[in-house]
Amino acid sequence: MLLEIPDVLTPDEVRGMREALEAADWLDGKVTAGAQSAKAKRNQQLSETHPLAEQFGQRILQALASNAVFMSAALPQRIYPPLFNRYAEGHDFGFHVDNAIRPINGTRERVRTDLSATLFLADPDSYEGGELVIRGSFGTHAVKLPAGAMLLYPGTSIHRVEPVTRGVRVASFFWVQSLVREDARREMLLDMDMAIQRLTQTGGDGEALIQLTGVYHNLLRQWADL
Ligand code: NI
Repeated sequence: MLLEIPDVLTPDEVRGMREALEAADWLDGKVTAGAQSAKAKRNQQLSETHPLAEQFGQRILQALASNAVFMSAALPQRIYPPLFNRYAEGHDFGFHVDNAIRPINGTRERVRTDLSATLFLADPDSYEGGELVIRGSFGTHAVKLPAGAMLLYPGTSIHRVEPVTRGVRVASFFWVQSLVREDARREMLLDMDMAIQRLTQTGGDGEALIQLTGVYHNLLRQWADL
């Protein structure tokens, strides 16, 4: 499932982050790449221990925790602390697949990358190129979202970032280990949850709503890994 989540951050927040990030010291993006993806990766990244990465990462995690669409779609168990990257003119990242397991720096925790997320921080008019291109069983999609919006996509997919030909593309990216590791199951649960919410709002048959809510939780109980 490819899911666009609008307005994860407000325009003011995004502007503040972008301004602070523009003045930060960026490292070569190869620091977090595996041996194979390092060859394809030409971008910059903020150190995981940079104070801005920690501060803005925390803010993003907070925003996600109160985002109903994200919580329902991702069913997060563990989220990798958000990272930040920057693609200036001539930067790109060729087709690659993300590592399945990511150790969290400075801890003994690891995240299984069931879902990948890119939170766009630059205004799409401010740069050319830089589309996130995702190849999956659903075909190939090129995505470029408004600043503050986020794309959630299966960690299993092969993807790339198109070369930036003008301006600067800044984004945050991270991975989610879900309570439900299979994409198809997560998608059915999201559909069911949305139907339940809609029926609740439109005042549907109360008995049927309780039954349907029961089925949702019983499926989640069967499928969730804790
Ligand atoms: Ni990637």
